[in-house]
Amino acid sequence: MNSKEAPDSSDSMGNGRSQDPRVIAAYEEMARGFEDRDPRDQRTYMISKLNTDYVLMETVDIENRTILNVGCSFPVDELYFARKFARWTAVDASHSSLAASRTIVDRELHPELAGKISFEHADACDLPFEDSTFDVTVSMSTFDHLPSAAARQEAVTEMARTTRPGGFVIVTVANRWCLPYALGIRKMSREKTLHYGYAYLFSPLEIRAIGRRAGLDPIHFASSISPPTVWLPGYPIAVRWSARAVFGLMRLWGYFGRRVGYAFRKPQEDSST
Ligand SMILES: C[S@@+](CC[C@H](N)C(=O)[O-])C[C@H]1O[C@@H](n2cnc3c(N)ncnc32)[C@H](O)[C@@H]1O
Repeated sequence: MNSKEAPDSSDSMGNGRSQDPRVIAAYEEMARGFEDRDPRDQRTYMISKLNTDYVLMETVDIENRTILNVGCSFPVDELYFARKFARWTAVDASHSSLAASRTIVDRELHPELAGKISFEHADACDLPFEDSTFDVTVSMSTFDHLPSAAARQEAVTEMARTTRPGGFVIVTVANRWCLPYALGIRKMSREKTLHYGYAYLFSPLEIRAIGRRAGLDPIHFASSISPPTVWLPGYPIAVRWSARAVFGLMRLWGYFGRRVGYAFRKPQEDSST
């Protein structure tokens, strides 16, 4: 049995506290277009994903691990990492996304790889898994669409609960400090033209604090603005110092990146208690 208390019946799927009906409707609609609009063809999206989500995945090392992906949408990550993980469970609140993703995964992957991936309908705030089920839990650009502060905290707490002690939790979100993006989202929200219904913008420190409140230790920050990973020691000193200065500035600038996130570690259980 998991250690969650019996859920409050008012907190169940789709009541507006853990899901925003406008968001679910928007993603149901989007999933119907998966065959025509493949996010892998969108360069800006992929660069942002590589710099945040995949940097964090590399930090924790997912080789032969069991993974939970909360809010999968199109199966970009499932396809990208399939050769590495032992098992991958993807959950989403959109039935159409799950069905379309299953079709795409079965079409694009060898059955041996596709067989390691399962798709389940579930709410981020009420995950249908026992405590400590997964080595790594990830949620990429999904918690921006949860409709309240309580839901956003609960979703991270659920990831922490279902991750084994010593395992990792990765959360990436949209950044309030990316000012042009934030102004655009605000304008579209005001005018009710936001194509995915609702978006909350986090600050980097806020998502870090949410992880800490869930009992997790932040171990790595990543941003869509990040310096390149280059090996400097062989270069002349003038190049090394100036490159270090530029990379340092880029790291600071990362707090203004459009997508930001953290890898957290779930502490080992204290055997003395
Ligand atoms: C922006 S998409 C995720 C994108 C994807 N993970 C990526 O990295 O590009 C957000 C997804 O969250 C799902 N979602 C929204 N609210 C949810 C909830 N309460 N529980 C589970 N999934 C939810 C939506 O259906 C949608 O598929």
